[in-house]
Amino acid sequence: MKNKIILYFIVIFSVIALQKLKAVPSPENYNLGIIPYPNHVEVKTAKTKLNHLNIYIDSKWHSSYLYDLIKDISDVSFSDQKKANVILIETPTIESEAYRLEILSNKVNLKASDKAGFQYGLISLMQIVKFRGLSLNELIIEDSPRFKYRGMHLDVARHFFTMDNIKQHLDYLAYYKYNRFHWHLTDDQGWRVEIKQYPKLQEIAAYRDETLIGHYNDQPHKYDGNRYGGYYTQEQISEIVKYAAERNIEIIPEIDIPGHTLALLSAYPELGCEDKNFKAATSWGIFEDVLCPKEETFQFLNNVMDELMRLFPGEFIHIGGDECPKVAWKNSAFCQELIQKEKLNDEEGLQSYFVKRVANYIQSKGRKIIGWDEILEGGLAQGAVVMSWRGAEGGIKAAKLGHDVIMSPNSHCYFDYYQSESPTEPLSIGGFIPLEKVYFWNPIPSEFKPHEQKHILGGQANLWTEYIKTYSGVQYMTYSRGMALTETLWSKEKNYKQFLDNLEKHTDYWKLKGANVAFHIYDLKYHVISYPGMNPKLYFETPQNTTVHYNFNDTSVATISGNDTINIMNSGKYVFVASKKNKRGNPLTLDFHLHKGTTAKIELEKHPSSRYAGQGSYSLINGVNGPENKYGGSEWLGFSGDNCTGTLSFLEETELNQITFRLFKGEGQWIYLPKEIEIFTSNDGIHYTSVNKTTDIDTKTKVASVILPLNQIKTKYLKFDIKNYGIIPEGRQGAGYKSWLFVDEIVVE
Ligand code: ACM
Repeated sequence: MKNKIILYFIVIFSVIALQKLKAVPSPENYNLGIIPYPNHVEVKTAKTKLNHLNIYIDSKWHSSYLYDLIKDISDVSFSDQKKANVILIETPTIESEAYRLEILSNKVNLKASDKAGFQYGLISLMQIVKFRGLSLNELIIEDSPRFKYRGMHLDVARHFFTMDNIKQHLDYLAYYKYNRFHWHLTDDQGWRVEIKQYPKLQEIAAYRDETLIGHYNDQPHKYDGNRYGGYYTQEQISEIVKYAAERNIEIIPEIDIPGHTLALLSAYPELGCEDKNFKAATSWGIFEDVLCPKEETFQFLNNVMDELMRLFPGEFIHIGGDECPKVAWKNSAFCQELIQKEKLNDEEGLQSYFVKRVANYIQSKGRKIIGWDEILEGGLAQGAVVMSWRGAEGGIKAAKLGHDVIMSPNSHCYFDYYQSESPTEPLSIGGFIPLEKVYFWNPIPSEFKPHEQKHILGGQANLWTEYIKTYSGVQYMTYSRGMALTETLWSKEKNYKQFLDNLEKHTDYWKLKGANVAFHIYDLKYHVISYPGMNPKLYFETPQNTTVHYNFNDTSVATISGNDTINIMNSGKYVFVASKKNKRGNPLTLDFHLHKGTTAKIELEKHPSSRYAGQGSYSLINGVNGPENKYGGSEWLGFSGDNCTGTLSFLEETELNQITFRLFKGEGQWIYLPKEIEIFTSNDGIHYTSVNKTTDIDTKTKVASVILPLNQIKTKYLKFDIKNYGIIPEGRQGAGYKSWLFVDEIVVE
């Protein structure tokens, strides 16, 4: 009996142990290395016995892209149908672009209903083999995109990119399951598509005399003296369209009208409102010379669109519509008469009239038009799709009007903005959109009801190339954040930690192929914690299980790990670096300058814009100066149209000698120095007396340091009022819009 009982327990424990061994790994713990991560992964207990994949692809599904994708992967070969252990099975019940991948013990079934679905299934399978390997549990993946429009834009007008560059870009996009390439073909600085009926577009409009050196905000402007340009012939365009189609990518060509047309006007000045010698622009921004809404302009554009529609067979034609100043139309007797004749309210109405004329023509040929969100102003053309770029507001408005929308807000989707605060970043237009911000972006506005949500077709990143001269630069700005965006657009559920693990592997893969991929995930994100009456403390989010080493004033100090805090007791230079194995992040240098303000309490009357909120109001007094050349990131606070008004409270009455305000100037980005700064003191926090004020605020560099002496005044409360410049005047970049005010730091001594 005793033996029987022992045997009974042995059996029971063995069964439990066996079950434990065979426990099904949860999909979260079973990272397959795929970007964008598939939507449904079921991991079975059984292991596969696959050690080599033999693929047979029927000619109906095959493409040169798939050939290139598969041929380089060891452990995978093409084979005939009989020997294949990867079987493609046409399954009409699966929707377009979706696929079902069944990795079984000795074979793989891939099911889809169309070429896109098979392509995406094979890309996922190849990523598994490459990044995870073939030692696998049996798996079922059921995958389909969250959004049907998954786009990437490239501006080839500011800088021109070769056929090989464009093909390479399409390869990258296909690998990450993007299905739209928005090709920005025309702008003030160059016209890049051959239109046979108008040869001067090729001879004249495709070239500019020279190009601005450095940043637009650097004064005075300097130019390189080199003629610059190029265009794609119609044969080349057709080659690219075919190349893209083989990758399930539709190309959306953009002819930007009625603004951003200086290059066009340089070739056909008769389409302008004034008799002028127009020249393709040699610097960046918005220009007041725009197309005139004359009959001959519309005839010209119809003819251009006819050729364009023959070249691009897709669903959409993009007609721009952004940033069209109205000065030329205000000064034109013809335009003013047209406004009367067509009973339009004003120049906004004329813009709407212009866009509708062109839209109607394109729509009469069975195509849909897309325009930037300015096409809402003065009335939206019927059936127009709105590309929301100045935040989400345009998209929200359009969707509520029943129009379809593509979200590409410059708060999250402008890949020409800086992605890192590191001082070694290549020169960029400005702003700050790190990887994490792209990853956690939701294209669907939170307030949307289901019937409005369906109007969001998807999202898109935009890459404007004023500061990007080479394809290597395009890779640097796009590849890393493009991986984050595709997961936003494709995956219905996301896991950032898993994504970062995959991003590391994918980055290594691209680097091995020679691509210039930005790698910032070991860069340290710091937080300065300030408490009134105490010196600041510093802590980091330590990324990817790295360790952090730091120096103080060039002397090695310590190694720390996640969640350690450092008390900043002295002014001086701290340099932090995170590393793991042979990889390290960019060094983070924080030059602390402790002053009387760093131990004060700060309250702001108005919060800065959520896009430029630094680390909150304490950024202004945390002892770290915002960088001299960049306004985005952890330090600078940006106020759109608002003043920066606030109070510093000291623990006790404090003697003050002077206060210095650091302010950013970047008029090309609509960032203006304030009109006036005034400071007040108080000993009860209620009654304030003005103690100093200045309107003498200027700088020759990008940062103004405005010093207001205080003559050993004693006070417990100090109020500051930094007055926003206001509306941007005519003739300047952003005329008519609210200006930005950027502040950091307020140094109290
Ligand atoms: C844009 O960025 N001007 C659409």
